[in-house]
Amino acid sequence: EPLPVTQPDGALPLTVAHRGYSAVAPENTLAAVEAGIRAGAEYVEIDAQTTRDGVPVVMHDNTVDRTTPGTGDISTLTAAQVTALDAGSWFSPAFAGQKVPTLGQVLDLVRTSGSTLLLEIKGPETRAETTRILDEVRSHGMARQVLVQSFDEQVLRDARAVAPEIPLGLLRGAVDADPVATAKAFGVVTYNPSAAALLTRPDAVSQLNSAGIAVMPYTVNDAATWRKLADAGVDAIITDRAGELAGWRSGH
Ligand code: G3P
Ligand code: CA
Repeated sequence: EPLPVTQPDGALPLTVAHRGYSAVAPENTLAAVEAGIRAGAEYVEIDAQTTRDGVPVVMHDNTVDRTTPGTGDISTLTAAQVTALDAGSWFSPAFAGQKVPTLGQVLDLVRTSGSTLLLEIKGPETRAETTRILDEVRSHGMARQVLVQSFDEQVLRDARAVAPEIPLGLLRGAVDADPVATAKAFGVVTYNPSAAALLTRPDAVSQLNSAGIAVMPYTVNDAATWRKLADAGVDAIITDRAGELAGWRSGH
């Protein structure tokens, strides 16, 4: 199963569908997750955060403004309010009626697929909110089919404390001076940096891989950069163009 293990030397990077297959369907909707699965992505990435009444929902921005007709911060809205919003029409009228999904709906969809969910927890979240998200993963029987990632260090510390069996990834805007030490300090199995930052420090890939830590840079949509990252030895690439990356891989 495509859990976060390092790929053998010479293997092409696995495909991670960023916010679902977000080049062809509205990001972070069930349609985009489904498209990512169909495209053959080994991982489907989504963003989770918590409503005022404590329900994890799937959206990237802290507000609903950009991708729905509503306004306001998710932390001030109820789950009933958020999940009633149309999250498809901004992308294309063909997706009118795609609602903001709950995390539970996405877990149900991915559970019966061959894909692994790359679940980004958007901070800040309280420990209780992080715990609720991880409890949903457990109650779906998906502790081995989910990789949790975050930029938020407190979220990662809380996740490590409350769910030691669920694997973690560290999102980074820059590559740390000692990425292996940082990854070990957070107890993560993947190190997920900005691709631009990683390409200034390609040596970091072999250092991390030698320590058993996989490297999954974000977010890269062009084949020239896929090639550079493959040459650097990364294990997976986070992309909006999951179908194209999967096709590029299989063409080699
Ligand atoms: O998966 C990595 C990537 O999603 C991080 O950036 O802003 O798209 O969540 P962002
Ligand atoms: Ca994300």
